[in-house]
Amino acid sequence: MYQPVIDLAGEVCFRPNFWQTKTRINYLIDEYLSTYELCDRLEDLPRQFQDPQPRKWSTINWQDINPEQVIGIELDIFLSIIRGALDIEAHIRGYTQTSRQYLEPIHPNMAKFVGGKVLENGNIIELGLYASQKEDHQHTPALIKIYQQLSQQKILPQKREVQIYQAQKNPYQDLYQHGLQRVATEYSAVCLYLWLMSHTTGTIQQVLSELLQDEVNHLTKFWGMGMWLYPDGAEQLIKYLLSQINTILPVSYESDLQTKSNLKSTFQRMMSVLNWQSGSILSRGELIYTFVWTLKKIWHWSSQLTPEYLQSCCATPEFFENNNLESYQPETILF
Ligand SMILES: [Fe+2]
Ligand SMILES: [Fe+2]
Repeated sequence: MYQPVIDLAGEVCFRPNFWQTKTRINYLIDEYLSTYELCDRLEDLPRQFQDPQPRKWSTINWQDINPEQVIGIELDIFLSIIRGALDIEAHIRGYTQTSRQYLEPIHPNMAKFVGGKVLENGNIIELGLYASQKEDHQHTPALIKIYQQLSQQKILPQKREVQIYQAQKNPYQDLYQHGLQRVATEYSAVCLYLWLMSHTTGTIQQVLSELLQDEVNHLTKFWGMGMWLYPDGAEQLIKYLLSQINTILPVSYESDLQTKSNLKSTFQRMMSVLNWQSGSILSRGELIYTFVWTLKKIWHWSSQLTPEYLQSCCATPEFFENNNLESYQPETILF
């Protein structure tokens, strides 16, 4: 009798068509982005303000990684995607201190959680979640191990320039602009790892599931904090993310939003780094599907978050010492 093989994304199909991969993507979205999971990650914030602790990973048997665990994508294309993801992760690591600087004048506890405590001379005296050699710091070595195990070749991430902190208008407005990009970056990472999980099984999929859970953790915290600090910005955030998805569609039109873009979109960067030209139309369709359905799920969750609930997750006494939430209305957004 036929016994289906089940993994973290549901039933395994070794030569999947679009509909079978779509079923796996839906399964992963339901599992890893459930309302329970998203709320749990956001409700973790007050604990993290007290004592930042990275999320613990399960034990991974790195030696078990083998090419047969990649399904429905050519191995060399999969490797080029891992190489691209590696460069993005290495870049996000450098981005951490920029986020800390934008957060510091507004929410010192969130700044510390993200980037630790830094002296005037730039020395880090206390490590934050991101700077703790764990979470995002764990991502680059994990991807290197997958790559090396599959290709039997050494690899190093490419050095890339990181957007630096630039105070421009007022700290609230500056953080708003930065926050949009930060949320878009975490959201792209979530979508990428989720899609890669639909095309893998076994140990590779297990590693990707740890990466995915870390990115979901980051996304919910940045997203929830953004919703609390800028309650009128929710619609603009969705428009921003949709405009970013639009930039990776096969026929991309120049919208007003894009021409105003003051940054090379996170998504475009991701697609070029991922060596997208070598990806098939099918993979592109699957990834766009992942972006849209993930956004739908998060938007549904986000629309249920009440101001009181957000306050219970995001507020700290230090925040109220310097800020008055009522006094701020986001200005016209400049993306
Ligand atoms: Fe990461
Ligand atoms: Fe992240």
